[in-house]
Amino acid sequence: MRFDDRFLEELKSRLRPSEVIGKAVKLRRNGREWVGLSPFSKEKTPSFYVNDEKGFFHDFSSGKHGDIISFLQETERLSFVEAIEKLAAEAGMALPVQTPQDAQAQMKRQGLSDWMDLAAKWFAARLHDKTPGAQAAREYLKRRGLSDQDVADFGLGYAPKDHTALKDALVQKGAKVSELVECGLLIEVEGKAPYDRFRNRLMFPIEDARSKIVSFGGRALDPDEKAKYLNGPETPLFHKGSLLFGLPKALKILGSAQTGPELVVVEGYMDVLACQRAQIAAVAPLGTALTEEQIDILWRRHPEPTLCFDGDKAGMRAADRALDRALPKLKPGKSFKVCLITGGKDPDDVLREKGPLALREALTVTQPFVEVLFKREQDLEPLDTPERKAGLKKRLRALAGQIEDKDLADSYRQDLMDRFDALFRREPTQGFQRAPFQPRGSFKNGKFIEPPIQMTPEGGRAAQALSRALDPMSAVLAQGLLDHPDWMMDQAEALDAYGLGDPALERLAKTLVSLSFSTSPLDSASVNRHLQNQGYGALLSEIQKAALRAASPILAQDISLADAHSRWLKAFNAFARLTALDRALTAAKNEASASFDAEIFSRTKLERDALRKALKSGQIFEVDADD
Ligand code: UTP
Ligand code: MN
Repeated sequence: MRFDDRFLEELKSRLRPSEVIGKAVKLRRNGREWVGLSPFSKEKTPSFYVNDEKGFFHDFSSGKHGDIISFLQETERLSFVEAIEKLAAEAGMALPVQTPQDAQAQMKRQGLSDWMDLAAKWFAARLHDKTPGAQAAREYLKRRGLSDQDVADFGLGYAPKDHTALKDALVQKGAKVSELVECGLLIEVEGKAPYDRFRNRLMFPIEDARSKIVSFGGRALDPDEKAKYLNGPETPLFHKGSLLFGLPKALKILGSAQTGPELVVVEGYMDVLACQRAQIAAVAPLGTALTEEQIDILWRRHPEPTLCFDGDKAGMRAADRALDRALPKLKPGKSFKVCLITGGKDPDDVLREKGPLALREALTVTQPFVEVLFKREQDLEPLDTPERKAGLKKRLRALAGQIEDKDLADSYRQDLMDRFDALFRREPTQGFQRAPFQPRGSFKNGKFIEPPIQMTPEGGRAAQALSRALDPMSAVLAQGLLDHPDWMMDQAEALDAYGLGDPALERLAKTLVSLSFSTSPLDSASVNRHLQNQGYGALLSEIQKAALRAASPILAQDISLADAHSRWLKAFNAFARLTALDRALTAAKNEASASFDAEIFSRTKLERDALRKALKSGQIFEVDADD
């Protein structure tokens, strides 16, 4: 171990736990201790205690207990060494070094690191210059939707056009030209004096896991510039393949209890910024395919990070490369999810066009690794001959064989073969009698036409039982959305908040909301395909049956699409309102009787009951016919 006990004791004695932890958790004094809301679980009554004298924290809600080192490991997902390095920096302690060479290298890195910090501050200051270049950079940031606060949060800056502006500034502060070349800020071309690498670019500081600036990325502001993005070169501080852009902030987001527990890998700088602005823990490799080292870093922080790619050609190629790179390394309990954003958009586009909620939703639509892998092989060529079918089988076996972990390789082989078999499974020739109902939404003279659905006898009976149990109006509303997903466009928030009335449809409602943000074009076929892929097949046919049995005027055949839509909207709004009223009444009942007004309560109840009746009797639609 690099750190002996004396060093660790000294480190802990120099830092007050309440101060270190107080940066992440709001603490208030409680006798000799400090108390706050648990960072490990959602709670309303504080049960998280910090004891400075004894140097520990104790969390009653989760049972977690530890010192400042384990606190940082837990909340920021740092490794032990990283946590210590961070704390040592805070305590102003030098890290123990072993050999004189180590010491020298460490000192040199520290020197280079200081110049990187200074360069970042200098770039940031240049952004506020009065020069036309700086002005253009500010306008560019505005166009991309970045506020002054975002610029400050991410430490963005501007590298001016001048060839030696940064060099002159840092040399004046005492930097040696050779040092600036070594840390990548200057380029050295034979026979010429070294000059600034980044010119007329928007500057993104690149931090290592300890939040130290080790390099920069620069985005061209001139559209004619050959390289859109330019990264710093490999240096003693910066190893591209072992670093992920945005990691420190992503870990902070991941460590905070408020947000979802996903860790997302995106493609670009701007995508990381977009996600983090929406409180999504995101990182990006720097213009290369994921390295094994990066995969390990990700897995240390999350068992199943989400690989997010643009749904365009380049994005698919990137996804391919990432799959191939990750496959051999998969382990029991360590994998990836895959999220393809459709419509040729990247996360930054989604945030700008549809906002943070939409981005968060889009990132929840993921597919398991094995599924993406299978699909990729399946789509490689048409499977219209025995040779090609056998070829697919062979490729699948070979892929499973690439997984180094033997047990997992076996599971993968099994899973891929099951998928292969399912692809060519014949229709059952006997057994279940298909129920006489017609495809979604059409309703001809009160008669149903048989839909093309195949089911096992057990599945069929289970589905029938369930469909009888589904609330008819809920089923009708759901069916309306399945047929006309564009109806969701203005209703996504309401749908998210109130669902479709029947608890059995709650998960479906959420998925529909996500799909409405991420699927393009938003047509019935695509949405249904997505839902099928996510295992909703059985539920969809239940909904269909229940909806048809309800024989609702919304789904009647003889009305115009506009009429159908307005009827659906009426019913949906009434349903949402009903749910809201129900919730208000329940909340009122649960509260202390003194704190709610009896009159409001009874009025709410009246409204709820009337609404319920109007919905049941179909009156709700009659009102519509009048206006
Ligand atoms: P993209 O070309 O997809 O750009 O590159 P982007 O991230 O959407 O950028 P904006 O929105 O146009 O500003 C994705 C990532 O690939 C690397 C960068 O890391 C970039 O963020 N890249 C791209 C380079 O390193 N060099 C390039 O010339 C282009
Ligand atoms: Mn982009």
